[in-house]
Amino acid sequence: MNALTTQTLIVIVFLLIIPTSLAAPPTLEDSFTQCLTIFKPSDQESPIQNFTYTQQNPNFLTILNNYVRNLRYFNGTTRKPVAIVTAAHFTHIQATINCGKKLGLQLRIRSGGHDYDGMSYLSTVDFVVLDMFNLRSIEIDPKLETAWVQSGVTLGEIYYEVANKSNNLRGFPAGICPGLGAGGHFSGGGYGNMMRKYGLSIDNIIDAKIVDANARVLDRSSMGEDLFWALRGGGAASFCVVLAWKIKLVPVPEKVTVFNVETVGNRGGVTTTDLVAKWQEIADKVDNDLFIRLTLSSSNKTVKASFMGMFLGDSEKLLEIMNAKFPELGINKTECIEMKWIESVLFWLSIPPNTAPTSVMLNRIPQKQIFLKRKSDYVQKPISKPGLESIFKILLENENVTMAWNPYGGRMSEIPETETAFPHRAGKMFKIQYSSNWFVPGEAAARDCLSQTERVFDAMSPYVTKNPREAFLNYRDVDIGKSLNSTYEEGKVYGVKYFKDNFEKLVQVKTRVDPDNFFRYEQSIPVHISRR
Ligand SMILES: Cc1cc2nc3c(=O)[nH]c(=O)nc-3n(C[C@H](O)[C@H](O)[C@H](O)COP(=O)(O)OP(=O)(O)OC[C@H]3O[C@@H](n4cnc5c(N)ncnc54)[C@H](O)[C@@H]3O)c2cc1C
Ligand SMILES: *[C@@H]1O[C@H](CO)[C@@H](O)[C@H](O)[C@H]1NC(C)=O
Ligand SMILES: *[C@@H]1O[C@H](CO)[C@@H](O)[C@H](O)[C@H]1NC(C)=O
Ligand SMILES: *[C@@H]1O[C@H](CO)[C@@H](O)[C@H](O)[C@H]1NC(C)=O
Ligand SMILES: *[C@@H]1O[C@H](CO)[C@@H](O)[C@H](O)[C@H]1NC(C)=O
Ligand SMILES: *[C@@H]1O[C@H](CO)[C@@H](O)[C@H](O)[C@H]1NC(C)=O
Ligand SMILES: *[C@@H]1O[C@H](CO)[C@@H](O)[C@H](O)[C@H]1NC(C)=O
Ligand SMILES: *[C@@H]1O[C@H](CO)[C@@H](O)[C@H](O)[C@H]1NC(C)=O
Repeated sequence: MNALTTQTLIVIVFLLIIPTSLAAPPTLEDSFTQCLTIFKPSDQESPIQNFTYTQQNPNFLTILNNYVRNLRYFNGTTRKPVAIVTAAHFTHIQATINCGKKLGLQLRIRSGGHDYDGMSYLSTVDFVVLDMFNLRSIEIDPKLETAWVQSGVTLGEIYYEVANKSNNLRGFPAGICPGLGAGGHFSGGGYGNMMRKYGLSIDNIIDAKIVDANARVLDRSSMGEDLFWALRGGGAASFCVVLAWKIKLVPVPEKVTVFNVETVGNRGGVTTTDLVAKWQEIADKVDNDLFIRLTLSSSNKTVKASFMGMFLGDSEKLLEIMNAKFPELGINKTECIEMKWIESVLFWLSIPPNTAPTSVMLNRIPQKQIFLKRKSDYVQKPISKPGLESIFKILLENENVTMAWNPYGGRMSEIPETETAFPHRAGKMFKIQYSSNWFVPGEAAARDCLSQTERVFDAMSPYVTKNPREAFLNYRDVDIGKSLNSTYEEGKVYGVKYFKDNFEKLVQVKTRVDPDNFFRYEQSIPVHISRR
């Protein structure tokens, strides 16, 4: 071997060794996973490594996709998190917060993943997903008055367990879709078909356990009443990670009565316009035990109206009320179906009575994933018949959009706007949800459905709240304002729509509990102007 080749060999050996062993800076992933190992659960039974997925892990994409409920935000170009921590112990949450802060990573907290605009798993900067699905215990007190539920439980799991343990004597007022996570759903208000009787979920929440920006575990008495106020309707993800909620169970009758009356064109000679006009007169004023959701959609170039009802009582009493207050609908006895409250959960999913066991509400993974867009509005005064006719016309021109009109009134009007962070109370007749679902990927279908939704939303502006045009936080809509630089001014744009005058108090709470703005995302509560 001559001198030249020996030298070359040495150089080659150096080139091979140096870049990998000495020069390569650690990746964010490595730094994050290494940082996590410093924090160990006291019991050592759940090593955090076993619950952490980086992009190298073969299950990374499956874990990420498992709780994606809007396919618009899961494709090849969507920014993926540096890691997903599927916390199984509160120390995993503490470690994730500490390491996120240390490495300047943003946090996205996900419970059921139903956020309409993907705020629980989407970011434009380096981030970590804290996935709560492993934290799903439900502890019901023996007297059946309260329960502690962890953030990762679904509504279906709560409903099923509460009905089972109480022998069908108790329920809980919350959302209609059983897949919703307690973590996100409750902190945004939690709205469902017992709302006129019992208010929102947050009106029945009496304590919470959280992990704050300093990684401390706190409950209602140690977190401060102002933070506990903010968590009820203000969106917890701006303030902390919610570990568990203490909920107050409510009595439900042995039998409830449900119905779904659909009309296309007219019913027994009464036009859809007249039916909807009458619904507006009574829906927020009838007996608090009765909730009638009106859904308007296009069906073969005609407007279809469906009146879906839930009555906390028997069919005889329901018919009495309907005949007195809404005779135009002409509902008859065979259309009123009596069942257990727990069975009504399936009815509201459009599962025909007696065709599936109630345990289907425990399914966590939906049958199919879809692309979707949602928006919301509030209505305070009845829309005239000519107004209704023009709304129907717009709907027919935008046939991929459906509107659900959800009546307020009852208990909702009795609770002051400042009682919780959720402000849409007395004076609201009903809330509108605009929805568009589509099933094919690609920009064309998305653009079509999004623009239709915009057109219907624009056309509704004469009939809904103004200054601000109010919106429901749980019906997340990033189009009403987005914070890119986390400024107070940016936050105020969407903040007053979601929270009205409660926005300023939310800013104060935020400034007290998270002055460095660790818990931030595209629609979080900003810290106060003077603290920036
Ligand atoms: C099919 C469907 C039906 C729906 N029906 C209803 C309904 O009937 N009534 C109603 O009110 N709403 C309804 N919604 C809206 C739903 O309430 C919200 O999307 C709600 O935020 C879902 O909670 P989640 O935990 O499943 O969502 P996620 O996407 O996990 O979270 C939503 C938000 O809460 C934050 N968050 C989640 N967990 C925590 C936690 N542990 N600590 C702090 N922050 C957390 C997230 O970061 C995110 O900002 C529905 C949504 C869908 C997709
Ligand atoms: C954690 O993961 C390691 C490696 O896969 C495995 O050997 C160990 O049993 C796991 N520990 C627990 C408590 O699951
Ligand atoms: C892919 O996802 C991003 C969000 O991350 C979205 O903006 C984009 O429109 C999606 N692309 C398609 C083709 O759906
Ligand atoms: C509760 O669940 C148990 C176990 O599945 C079952 O045997 C029991 O009948 C259920 N009780 C009620 C009231 O649904
Ligand atoms: C839609 O209407 C057309 C024309 O009236 C009719 O031929 C067709 O059968 C209808 N389709 C459905 C699904 O009702
Ligand atoms: C009740 O309404 C249903 C559906 O509209 C109808 O099929 C049925 O004949 C009606 N029954 C009576 C007794 O009027
Ligand atoms: C919109 O609705 C029409 C009629 O139902 C349907 O044919 C079409 O495929 C829908 N568009 C999208 C993008 O889903
Ligand atoms: C955010 O801040 C940067 C730097 O201050 C500025 O250049 C940018 O325009 C701001 N973006 C928005 C949306 O305000």
